[in-house]
Amino acid sequence: MNKEVVLSGIRPTGYLHLGNYFGAMRNYVRMQDEYNCYFFVANWHSLTTHPDTKELKSSVHRVIAENIACGLDPEKVALYVQSDVTEIAELYLYLNMLAYKGELEKTTTFKEKVRLQPENVNAGLLTYPVLMAADILIHRAVKVPVGKDQEQHLEMTRNFAERFNFRYGNVFPMPYAFNYGDELVKIMSLDGNGKMSKSENQMNTLYLADEDDSIRKKIMKAKTDSGPTEPNSIKPDYIEGLFNLIKVVSDKSVVEKFESDFNQCHIRYGDMKKQLAEDMVNFIRPIREKAEALRADEKYMKEIMEHGAAKARVSAQATLQLVRDAVGLRYY
Ligand code: TYM
Repeated sequence: MNKEVVLSGIRPTGYLHLGNYFGAMRNYVRMQDEYNCYFFVANWHSLTTHPDTKELKSSVHRVIAENIACGLDPEKVALYVQSDVTEIAELYLYLNMLAYKGELEKTTTFKEKVRLQPENVNAGLLTYPVLMAADILIHRAVKVPVGKDQEQHLEMTRNFAERFNFRYGNVFPMPYAFNYGDELVKIMSLDGNGKMSKSENQMNTLYLADEDDSIRKKIMKAKTDSGPTEPNSIKPDYIEGLFNLIKVVSDKSVVEKFESDFNQCHIRYGDMKKQLAEDMVNFIRPIREKAEALRADEKYMKEIMEHGAAKARVSAQATLQLVRDAVGLRYY
């Protein structure tokens, strides 16, 4: 039986953090045995914000190495760099004819970028969701493991795919965001103010490349208060964020103890943060050390990227053939 196709990507704009891990990479690792998986580094998407391209090489290498360090097996999945699969750009062109200016302007991420970089509202930024749709549809993927912030992009991908199928014939299955739990994950920044992100204040974000002491320092500085005064109170966002972190890295019994302390109003946040810091160090350290070792081996990195691109191109070329036939581009 054919396995379902899974695809996901990560932009190489800065260091990967816990949000990337728990929103995306953890699922990649779990999915690799069950599905036909494609995972890639979205370096074309990074160009929309005009980064220093000299730094992109090390970021691309880091994303590849960190994915492997987190447990992805490049033999089981296709792990590649977006710009190595130029078929994606051709599909992006066709999909651009089916995407409308009004809907693109309404996209949340676009509006956010317009606010953040008003001097650089380029067409690539506007059509970011179209490129993302091309990434997904080029392998006719049906499951897309992503965090909650990408949900709207998935909805737009389905719209573009439906329009293509309606206009040219049925080529694409409908892709959906995927998470093993019921809900898509959102890891909050350490001050409880919005999601953890690559561009957030570094002190509020835990990176997979953070040194032990830096992890401890950031967690001990995380915002808390004097504790609840009523039993079973609702947690403020910054406390909820800490509980969410302890839930993902600590033992169940530890979580239960602090939950019960909170509900009975005798929680000691200092103790909770110390415990969280040690469990976080034990979680991040092996990933950091393995990724560093992989990154140092340039020959291995090159082999991985070449191997991944070759695998991805087989599938991309097969889809593009169907697309070209459907659109009617055979003139001789
Ligand atoms: P990016 O690079 O911003 O993030 C990579 C993945 O990490 C997830 N994520 C989070 N999940 C939970 N909590 C957080 N605080 C958090 N921060 C990030 C994101 O949801 C994502 O799954 N547009 C994409 C890259 C992309 C892509 C694709 C993804 C390009 N083409 C095709 C899927 C399919 C992005 O910028 O992700």
